[in-house]
Amino acid sequence: MTDRLPTGMGAPVRLEHVTKRFGQVVAVNDVTLEIPGQKMVTLLGPSGCGKTTTLRIIAGLETISSGRIFIGDREVTHQPASQRPITMVFQSYALFPHLNVFENVAYGLRNMGLPQGEIRTAVSEALALVGLAGLEGRLPSQLSGGQQQRVALARALVMRPQVLLLDEPLSNLDAKLRKQVRQELRALQQRLGITGIYVTHDQSEALAVSDLIVVMRDGVVQQVGTPEELYTRPANAFVARFIGDANLVEAEVRGGQVWVKGYRVPDPPGPKADGRRLLMIRPEAISIRPADGETAKDASGEPGQADTGLPGRVVHGFYQGMSAEYLVDTDAGQLMVIDAHLDGPVLPPGTPVRLAFAPRGMYLLPEGETAAPAAAAS
Ligand SMILES: Nc1ncnc2c1ncn2[C@@H]1O[C@H](COP(=O)(O)OP(=O)(O)OP(=O)(O)O)[C@@H](O)[C@H]1O
Ligand SMILES: [Mg+2]
Repeated sequence: MTDRLPTGMGAPVRLEHVTKRFGQVVAVNDVTLEIPGQKMVTLLGPSGCGKTTTLRIIAGLETISSGRIFIGDREVTHQPASQRPITMVFQSYALFPHLNVFENVAYGLRNMGLPQGEIRTAVSEALALVGLAGLEGRLPSQLSGGQQQRVALARALVMRPQVLLLDEPLSNLDAKLRKQVRQELRALQQRLGITGIYVTHDQSEALAVSDLIVVMRDGVVQQVGTPEELYTRPANAFVARFIGDANLVEAEVRGGQVWVKGYRVPDPPGPKADGRRLLMIRPEAISIRPADGETAKDASGEPGQADTGLPGRVVHGFYQGMSAEYLVDTDAGQLMVIDAHLDGPVLPPGTPVRLAFAPRGMYLLPEGETAAPAAAAS
């Protein structure tokens, strides 16, 4: 491993009111976005929401209909792709099949007319960085999918970009390899101090690799935040459903108290103006106990405890080893419940239960939010 590639070079990227139309389709709709330097930022959203188009706009592969783009202090709106300090890694790797690993990685440097000695050093460094030293002579067809993706990454890194764009770079790899390569990618990005902009529609991948996540829908940015901010304080129902599993129920806020169908919910975080609102509850934040108070496992022993909670009836219980996952019918709708500390048999279908919500896994969505249809997890 070598450290001769420059570190700490990652420039910030800024989009100001960027819109891109393809005929009638508005692929990117008035997007204003500040991507801090040397961070890994993920664009996350369902198929067709404009992720790839946004990356291609930043790379200069797509002209925009309106707006401005900056890299560092420089406006690049009208600069061709070749003059931007950016490289892009594609889902399909896009390696040259007839060139060996060395020549694939060297390609961009040869085009720049660098002397042979410098090319050899730079290619060796890049291949060492991605753990492929020794495979210089192989053709892409003689490599595994994971190795091919590493060649594509080395080919991007050898250009010493300030900004590295990654469009679903791991989607052709199997689940295990995907996890490994994404950790390597994250470590490399941090070590080199590159600005990384990563596209995925896999929310667990986004949570794992990102400093910041940008959630998009229909070309519009829904929310920008750290993984924790998006998970605990989603801006709207779409984000709540897209990041992790979420129950959304209608709640009534009165004088600072929050009620769900006669159950007084213990003080959820979020803005508390009076009115009807949507309450998000993560499945792990709901405790479940049989409705007859005697067997309540989280009973505090205080009188009346057995009657608190939202009444419901088990639809299904799924045994998961240490935990159980339930679907429960309530007056507030069907709720997903994860009992993380299963200490007895799974409750059978039809069991009358009481559900209690824990503040830590709840969030009262801002006013005006209505239950949007569940995000299609593509
Ligand atoms: N060259 C093009 N001509 C016409 N429409 C396009 C073109 N490229 C993209 N679009 C449209 O723009 C919208 C955004 O596409 P984009 O490829 O950015 O989505 P995406 O978020 O990357 O989706 P996916 O997760 O499926 O890759 C889609 O409606 C798409 O059909
Ligand atoms: Mg795409």
